[in-house]
This record gives sequence, C-alpha cells and structure tokens, in this order.
Amino acid sequence: MSKEFSSLVKKIKPSFTLQMTARAAELRSQGEDVINFGVGEPDFNTPQHIIEAGKQAMVDGYTKYTPGSGMLELKEAIQTKLKNLTGINYDPGNIIVSNGGKQSLSVVCQALFDKGDKVVVFSPYWVSFPEFVRIAGAEPLLVNTISDKQFEPDFDDLISKIDDSVKGVIINSPSNPTGGVWSDDAISRLLKLSKEKDWIVISDETYEELVYDNEFKAIETLDSFGCEIVTIRSMSKTYAMTGWRIGYTTANEQIVKAMSKIQGQTTSCPNAIGQKASVAALLGDQEPVRQMKEKFRNRRTVMYKELNEIDNVHCDMPGGAFYMFPDFSYYLNKKNEDGKILQDTFDLSDYILADAKVVTVAGDGFGAGGYLRFSFATNTETIINGIQRIKNSLKKLK
Ligand SMILES: Cc1ncc(COP(=O)(O)O)c(C=O)c1O
Repeated sequence: MSKEFSSLVKKIKPSFTLQMTARAAELRSQGEDVINFGVGEPDFNTPQHIIEAGKQAMVDGYTKYTPGSGMLELKEAIQTKLKNLTGINYDPGNIIVSNGGKQSLSVVCQALFDKGDKVVVFSPYWVSFPEFVRIAGAEPLLVNTISDKQFEPDFDDLISKIDDSVKGVIINSPSNPTGGVWSDDAISRLLKLSKEKDWIVISDETYEELVYDNEFKAIETLDSFGCEIVTIRSMSKTYAMTGWRIGYTTANEQIVKAMSKIQGQTTSCPNAIGQKASVAALLGDQEPVRQMKEKFRNRRTVMYKELNEIDNVHCDMPGGAFYMFPDFSYYLNKKNEDGKILQDTFDLSDYILADAKVVTVAGDGFGAGGYLRFSFATNTETIINGIQRIKNSLKKLK
C-alpha cells in the first residue's frame, strides 16, 4: 500500500498479551502440548442462568440498538449493585455502559485528556493504560511502585516527577499484572494528593470481586477529600463474561455525557444481548461468583508455593486478581543451549515457550524488566506440571 498510516497507528503498540494468546493457540494447532499461564480471563464458563438470560434476550427481540450509554434496565441493576457495595446512590445519568471496561477506559481518556497533558500510570502497568493515554493524544507519566508492598505507589518517585501538566492518575487495585491490592492508606494518600493537584482519578476496578485477604473497598468509599473520581467496572472477570463485552463507568454527569458523545460516534451502543445477560448477572444468584473466587484462592496458594520453589525466584503473595508477578531476574543474561544470551524477559519468556512449551508473559511488556507474569486461571494440576517444566528448562541455562 502506498498510503502512509496515521500517526496514531505508528504511535500505539499492539496488545502483546493478545499476541501471546494467539501464539499459544498456534502452537496448540500444530499439535504441541502447550500450558498457558498467559491467559487474562477466567477458565470457567459464564454461569448457566446468565447464558439462559442471553438466549431469552434474543428470543424476546433484544437484537436491536439500545440507547447509546446503555439500557435503563441495566443502569438500574448497576444502581442496585453499587448501592449495596458503596452505599452511594448513582443516578442513571452517572452511569455509562460500554462494550467492555476496555472501551470505557479508552473513551474516558479521550473525553478528558489532550495533547500536552500527562497522566500518571503506575509501573508495572496493564499494557493498555499507556496506550489509552496516547490514543487521547496525551502522554503517560510512568511512576515506580514498591514491589514488596503489593506494588503500591512509590510516593517519592511520584512527587519528584509531577508538574502542572499532570491532569489525571490511573489506579488499578487489584492490579493486572501484579495482583497487588493497595492498602487503604496508600489509596487515601493518593486521593489527598489528587485533590490538592486537581487531578481526575480514574479507578479501574475490573478485579473488584477477586480480593482474597481483606474486604474489597470501592474507591469512592475511601475518598474523604471530594475528589473527581471516575470508576470503571466490568462484567468480564467477575462473571466469567469476557466474550460478552460489557463494562461500565460511574462519573459525574458531565463526564458521562462527554463519554457518551464519543462512544455514540464509535460503537453506537453496547451489545444488547450482553446487556440483558448482565442484568441477570448483577441481580441474580451470586453463588457462582463465590465458588469461582474460592477456586482462584486455592490456585493462588498452589501457584505461590510452586513458584517460590523455583531456585532463585521470588514471588510475594498477591492480594487479588488471578496473576502472580515473580522476580526472574537471576535468569537474565544466561545462555541457552544454542549459546543465545537471554537479555530481557521477552527472551526468557520465548525460551520458556520454546523449551518448556509454557506460555508466560514478559514483565518488560508491563514496564517491569526482570519479572514474568503468571496467570492462575487454570487448574492446580496444570499449575504444578507447568512450573515443573519451567524448572527443568531453567536448569539447562548457563
Ligand atoms: C486491568 C484491566 N482493566 C480492564 C480490562 C478490560 O476488561 P474488559 O474490556 O473485558 O471489561 C482488563 C482485561 O484484561 C484488565 O486486566
């Protein structure tokens, strides 16, 4: 093609976590016995009553466009959920439903940020956060975290980097990729600073139901400063509904209107069948959610033990989500059997895939050299086998 692509295409990076999933699928289709610790979604199917609601929605004619910011019935179900979770009564005008939390996050950045603005993103970060900021024309300001404190913000680093061009901050607790859950103190400290600096706080609470050691607290309930908070939530991980593509945002009415304007000119409205299924998910039986969480909790225990038994690897216990983020830096700069030096975690992850047939995700892609991301959205037997294979492969490095 002779036409140059836009500067936007050149500027943003492809989602390499999706690329890893594609690679695992390709190897499997070639007959390889691949173990995948790269997955970013529950391995359970959507609970049956939600599936039935989706089928019924089609029979009942919910096969058409809905209002651009989501159907009222779903906004009312979200209202009920949030009233129970936070004690706050959100009006439908404070809610916008999107095709997944990912769309909500991208649209909110486009609605709020411009060229010349900076947005604080804590590193290790979910791969898409810096890209959402870049798509909006703004720049991510990467700030360090403290690895042995659930990857909470390093406030010294934050203070040393900020200036007047910072307009917002993105929080993601529990976090992808680390599984870290920040303490109430760390969140409060960040909220206080956000209020002082007049930053908009974007809180990605996709993993709200997967918190294992404490009770989850929505960010609104920790704000005693009157911050401008935009919260993104998702049906994907809580209800094993990643393919249904429904997420939602709560924010002040002006922000919701601005987001609706952009969303309406891009995808018109969220998927109608998914919206009806989400009503059933939010208002129906929550027992499947509790059962999935208990399975994840058991797997977390197994993966934590297995990872820490790998020589020279260290992993802290993550408080949430279904990820572990162990430190593999000992194995960098070692040689494989062909004499190739493994210079970074992309090389290490490639080596593990080629030799052990195990998919891991390179920490370098999340802004954290030396680490690998492991997902425990797979059964315990697979966790034990996969880590044993990795141990065998690491022993061959010189
Ligand atoms: C931190 C985080 N936020 C948002 C999302 C997006 O979820 P969805 O678009 O499926 O709602 C993901 C998915 O992996 C995620 O890990």
